[in-house]
Amino acid sequence: MKDSSPTDAVLIAAAREARRYARAPYSKFKVGAALETKDGLIVTGCNIENATYGLTICAERVAMFKALSEGHKSFRRIAVAFDTDGPTPPCGACRQILWEFGGDLEIILANTRRETGRHQLKELFPMPFDERNLG
Ligand code: THU
Repeated sequence: MKDSSPTDAVLIAAAREARRYARAPYSKFKVGAALETKDGLIVTGCNIENATYGLTICAERVAMFKALSEGHKSFRRIAVAFDTDGPTPPCGACRQILWEFGGDLEIILANTRRETGRHQLKELFPMPFDERNLG
């Protein structure tokens, strides 16, 4: 348990560091993510591809599933690091999972040099399907 929140720079640095472990031999598109728990801890993830392509999992979902599997239940924000000049937002599948387990997270996008964007998940995923739709 930790009370303080990591700075933006620390969270982004963790996402960049996680990106180094990406397994992306097919797309060559490496991504790293750093998810901050409500206790101020950082759980990282990277994208992991495999020969079927379809079983690829994105960095954001790896971070979220790792965190959930370690017992974390509430989250504050996630930093995602790519090597693109412009902002690269999370894919639709990740938006669904981040929403379901993280709610309206702050999403910080960065490349290897600078921050490229900042969004609330609600703004990227305005009409979610979630447990409320199940009645
Ligand atoms: N990817 C992520 O890890 N996160 C995203 O938000 C977008 C895409 C990965 C999946 C795949 O390994 C590669 O980037 C190209 O799509």
